[in-house]
Amino acid sequence: MQQNKSLLVVFHSRSGHTASMADAVIRGAQDSAIEGVDVVVCDALTTSSNQLLDADGVILGTPENFGYMSGAMKVFFETVYYDCLERTQGLPYGIFIHAGNDGSGALSSMTRIITGLRWRQVIPPVILVGEIHPPGLDACQELGMSLAAGLESGIF
Ligand SMILES: Cc1cc2nc3c(=O)[nH]c(=O)nc-3n(C[C@H](O)[C@H](O)[C@H](O)COP(=O)(O)O)c2cc1C
Repeated sequence: MQQNKSLLVVFHSRSGHTASMADAVIRGAQDSAIEGVDVVVCDALTTSSNQLLDADGVILGTPENFGYMSGAMKVFFETVYYDCLERTQGLPYGIFIHAGNDGSGALSSMTRIITGLRWRQVIPPVILVGEIHPPGLDACQELGMSLAAGLESGIF
């Protein structure tokens, strides 16, 4: 029997918005129509290099703080960067961001690091600004479902 694929969801949230988005991403990734994908959820502050090395795909979620990714997401990249640099090239990834009024600084700061890691963007980022409405959560659910479905089918 084929081994399950593993999808790692790494995020951090201080006041709950990014966590709401993460819940929807995870719900999508765990959709009953998708079999054979294990979803592993980690706080960005405590994710280890081995957890990333074990993953077939990763979805990263952060708020935008001071025009950048959150400090917690930066801790994640600092933790895994050199351990994973040579061993995660081509890793399919997705991003979700919550921001008060922008989000582009969080995205560009993450993209710069991910370019160095040579991961593969397989789905556009989801950026929600301000109050979260159902269509935004639907987009998050779609993000999780698409990445998991792509792993399941071997497209990614
Ligand atoms: C210290 C701090 C800095 C922030 N800087 C920005 C920013 O540069 N751009 C922006 O759009 N929102 C900014 N925000 C708003 C956060 O992105 C927003 O409150 C977000 O929902 C927080 O996510 P969380 O609820 O998951 O913690 C900032 C918030 C805090 C607390």
